[in-house]
Amino acid sequence: MNNPFKNIQGEVAWRAPSNIALIKYWGKYGNQLPKNASISFTLNNAFTETHVKYKAKTNENKDISLKFLFEGKENLKFAEKIQKFLESIIPHFPFLTYFDLEINSTNSFPHSTGIASSASSMAALALCLTDIQNTIDGGLRPNEFLEKASMIARLGSGSACRSVYPYLAVWGKHSTIAFSSNEYAVPFHETVHPIFKTFKDAILIVSSEEKSVSSRAGHALMENNPFAENRYKQAENNLNNLVDCLKSGDIQEFGEIVENEALTLHALMMCSSPSYMLMLPNTLKIIDLIKTYRTEKTVPLYYTLDAGPNVHLLYPEENATEVETFIQNTLLVNCENGKVIYDQVGNGPIKLK
Ligand code: DP6
Repeated sequence: MNNPFKNIQGEVAWRAPSNIALIKYWGKYGNQLPKNASISFTLNNAFTETHVKYKAKTNENKDISLKFLFEGKENLKFAEKIQKFLESIIPHFPFLTYFDLEINSTNSFPHSTGIASSASSMAALALCLTDIQNTIDGGLRPNEFLEKASMIARLGSGSACRSVYPYLAVWGKHSTIAFSSNEYAVPFHETVHPIFKTFKDAILIVSSEEKSVSSRAGHALMENNPFAENRYKQAENNLNNLVDCLKSGDIQEFGEIVENEALTLHALMMCSSPSYMLMLPNTLKIIDLIKTYRTEKTVPLYYTLDAGPNVHLLYPEENATEVETFIQNTLLVNCENGKVIYDQVGNGPIKLK
């Protein structure tokens, strides 16, 4: 058989973390391109580890040949998703059609927490595939490697493209961010005040049920949202101002912008057509308790939300003890089975093999 990769086989593995957006990506066009630039903290404890074994095919079949295991077990729903994704990226990775692939993926966080795993899982897979291409074809310089992995991750899930960098990443063309692009994310930490590089994120699980409206559907509803154009302008300004705070270490202004982004995201859902709501009564209770606590104790504790009911609490490392006491004593009763995941800003992906 005419396989240019005859007899080649190997295994790669990467760990990639999840990320939490401070300026939200909400609305896209074309092939997974964002309507506005977004910025996120890269997390540390919520991650996916993906192993990819590849072995040159001994037959002429040009279909993707995939065995997919999630946490060691076959998972048809995920396998189908990955199969489609791999088919869609053949133009970027023609080698994919010449190998039998076995992918094994595990998450550090339980599957049923309502924490989206698409960012970490797509980033880990994209890093593995870019790594394989680099091994068999060679030629990518270190910054090109991460750019390519970020671009591939983006095609799997937009927000995933920000998960390949340490600390913070920006995705989307923005006038004040050098080298920013709609195609891939870029690292953003060199000019960032050190207080943000050890920031904490406690994720309060209000509900772990599957969302009634997926992010994909939510992005699509932005197309007819009457506030869409103003929203994209607001995101541009918010990112501008947030970058100043990240550089100067102005936590209060940082918190105001981040909370404004979270509430705007959910307001956009509420005024979509059809409208929907992903916040739950306990989401609002928690937000209210945070505001009261912040005023009474003058502790810099802020919140953000994903496209879901869970609340991310953001606070400096130096306030961890008091904030975590507050979480345990006051907030956890509003969580599903008292569930919380303590996370923090992290160093980015790790090559495991
Ligand atoms: C609210 O990246 O999950 O978390 O590109 O369709 O996979 P797809 O959407 P996804 O959307 C994330 C939306 C968000 C904000 C953000 O992470 O920027």
